Amino acid sequence: MISRRQFGYGALCGLAPEMAFAQHAAVPGEVPAGTVWLNANENPDGPPDQVKQALSGAIAESGRYNHRVFPSLHAALAKSVDLEADRIITGAGSTEVLHCALDAFTSAKHPLITAWPTWEMTQELTEAAGRTVVKVPLMKDWSADVERMCAEAGKAGGGVIHFGNPNNPTSSITTKDQTRWLAANLPPNTVLLIDEAYIQFADSAKIESGVNLVREGGNIIATRTFSKLYGMAGVRVGFGCAPAELVRRMQPFRNNVISIFGARAAMAAVQLGDSFVEERRTRRNRIRAGFCSWLDERGFRFIPPQGNFVLIDIGRDVKDAIPRMLAEGVAVGRRFAAVSGWMRVTMGTQQEMEKFKAAFKKVVG
Ligand SMILES: Cc1ncc(COP(=O)(O)O)c(C=O)c1O
Repeated sequence: MISRRQFGYGALCGLAPEMAFAQHAAVPGEVPAGTVWLNANENPDGPPDQVKQALSGAIAESGRYNHRVFPSLHAALAKSVDLEADRIITGAGSTEVLHCALDAFTSAKHPLITAWPTWEMTQELTEAAGRTVVKVPLMKDWSADVERMCAEAGKAGGGVIHFGNPNNPTSSITTKDQTRWLAANLPPNTVLLIDEAYIQFADSAKIESGVNLVREGGNIIATRTFSKLYGMAGVRVGFGCAPAELVRRMQPFRNNVISIFGARAAMAAVQLGDSFVEERRTRRNRIRAGFCSWLDERGFRFIPPQGNFVLIDIGRDVKDAIPRMLAEGVAVGRRFAAVSGWMRVTMGTQQEMEKFKAAFKKVVG
């Protein structure tokens, strides 16, 4: 099997050294001073103070490999999702865990079956390895078409079924019932990979976390990240939850261990508990609700959002609007070909959203 390093190498040639598959959101070149960054679904609140302290503390530890710290990291992450430590795999962001899952469970015979449109990384990695990608369009309500994905996996004799919940760029969810139905009907040799980068922003009454399904023994991998709600995108730490056997099969594809900064920061973050998550969710979703009312008042169609971003129908290809918004000092999400007339906007601070509104009025109307 091709290694993870070989896997991405061809596609990476010609890009700047820091570029990687996950970095479609990068905005090249000069930007106006004071540009607001509503393009990568980050959190303007940034890392909590306890995480900043943990990061500073880790400087003194950074002279060693710190292998003895990792069992505590796994234990802390496992406790945070009520699983055993052998069902946890960590990574440099959830991106690394997604890489590992694709490396381990797609093959020449077993395709990636992904809901579409979605964040392109999984498709690109699978194609870079010369493996097949089956794109299954989202349904009319923007949820994953679980029955069709299941049928495709059955036809292929297995593979990886993947969707984001909430999905990027649509900010839509696949419901509890759909997710449970899929988990219960997985064809043989099929792994369900649910990307939960944005799950903390979603309505928990409507969405089923893959973590619950892992707890119930399903052949499922749920990926989580500290990049979004926790505001720690630059720390590069995330994790996956999966049955111990799947974790064991993914481990060889890890790039390495994560840095001591990621480990200490993640441990500090999960210690903040549910009240911190709730407080951040409420704060961001309040901005989102106000923003959606503004769009409603102006007669713009958008997908009811469940992540920290909104996909707005601007009625024409977004390709010209994106650089014009940037010229106004507002970086918005990139163009997604399958929804080319829609602009993806991350929820920033109230002040940032006001700047967005002024630019949007000028550029879009
Ligand atoms: C759906 C989705 N999954 C995963 C990621 C990667 O996040 P990270 O590697 O920072 O955890 C992103 C980043 O924007 C994303 O949109």
